[in-house]
Amino acid sequence: MDLFEHQAKALFATRGVPVPTGRTATTPEQAREIAAELGGRVVVKAQVKVGGRGKAGGVKVADGPADAQEKAGAILGMDIKGHTVHSVLVEQASDIAEEYYASFLLDRANRTFLAMASREGGVEIEEVAVTKPEALARIPIDALIGVDAAKAREIAAAAQLPEAALDGAADLLVKLWDVFVSADATLVEVNPLILTGDGHVVALDGKVTLDDNANFRHPENAALVDDSAIDPLEQKAKEKHLNYVKLEGEVGIIGNGAGLVMSTLDVVSYAGEEFGGMKPANFLDIGGGASAEVMANGLSIILSDPAVKSVFVNIFGGITACDAVANGIVSALGILGDVSTPLVVRLDGNNAVEGRRILAEANLPAVTPVDTMDGAAKLAAQLAAA
Ligand SMILES: Nc1ncnc2c1ncn2[C@@H]1O[C@H](COP(=O)(O)OP(=O)(O)O)[C@@H](O)[C@H]1O
Ligand SMILES: [Mg+2]
Repeated sequence: MDLFEHQAKALFATRGVPVPTGRTATTPEQAREIAAELGGRVVVKAQVKVGGRGKAGGVKVADGPADAQEKAGAILGMDIKGHTVHSVLVEQASDIAEEYYASFLLDRANRTFLAMASREGGVEIEEVAVTKPEALARIPIDALIGVDAAKAREIAAAAQLPEAALDGAADLLVKLWDVFVSADATLVEVNPLILTGDGHVVALDGKVTLDDNANFRHPENAALVDDSAIDPLEQKAKEKHLNYVKLEGEVGIIGNGAGLVMSTLDVVSYAGEEFGGMKPANFLDIGGGASAEVMANGLSIILSDPAVKSVFVNIFGGITACDAVANGIVSALGILGDVSTPLVVRLDGNNAVEGRRILAEANLPAVTPVDTMDGAAKLAAQLAAA
């Protein structure tokens, strides 16, 4: 999960990383109140989970409360790279002497953690990496040792930070590493990390990606979820412990096992070309368990997507037996009542013959069994186009 800048900064603050004082507003009036509380010049910043807000006009300095209200009015509702601005962070304007860059991340390719830092901050770091690779220091971090004062100093020096910023930056980096570890993050990035006119080093922006696999030990992460961005069906699937992903097409896909589901997507896309470009509308992996309940939950999610015109249930029985899946489908349709969307079901592998017999016997009007994957994909695409 990626965090908003204001969430990242709140997390930074819990570990002593210096950040400007500020609060979020969802209306221009609130922005005015916060600016009045803070006093002096403030910066109004769009809260969207995308970089380059400054360039897009989503970060504006305001002289005082009235100006903050006006700037917030201009930024709220703005579209930045496809993200609508629902809130702004109003924070004290910093006196920037210089802008640097610093981050810690999980470097999967090299199976290590990595510190990256540069004297060239405030600009897009990807650009620095390409045009001036020598200006971007990369220091591997040993997970068992972490970042102590000496390591932090080594990173700051490798980034060629000036003498005046070394102590402050090293101190901040130790605390930032503490954030990275304690929050189970895979990325913490500060761009810009600034040196102020009076010699302080402060995190002026914050980007954090948390490792969702560690959520079980961070109950506090639930409060960080951005409800407005969640697809309601994905949410429902998650609650039922099903892996569901929304796609753009018309054919709903249910399969068992990620590999089979992935190849089903390809086969349906290929078959769909013949029928005006029918494509998968979503996919749902029911995994090993195809009980009636799992099947009913899966079907009800897939069928509540209005884009779905047909459903392809593709099961290869391994540990899961096809007769259990067939019974699951029959009972699921019993639970769901009259389903008008056509279902194409292909059962193969363990107990396929018995599974097909059960489906044939049930004689469900919505269900058409097809024995091959290609044949079933073709029919599902054809029915979706009809
Ligand atoms: N609190 C602040 N005080 C002064 N200038 C700021 C402040 N926050 C941001 N800025 C300026 O705006 C620029 C862009 O802000 P930033 O938070 O990095 O957004 P983004 O990276 O999305 O463009 C910064 O590089 C900095 O120059
Ligand atoms: Mg930035």
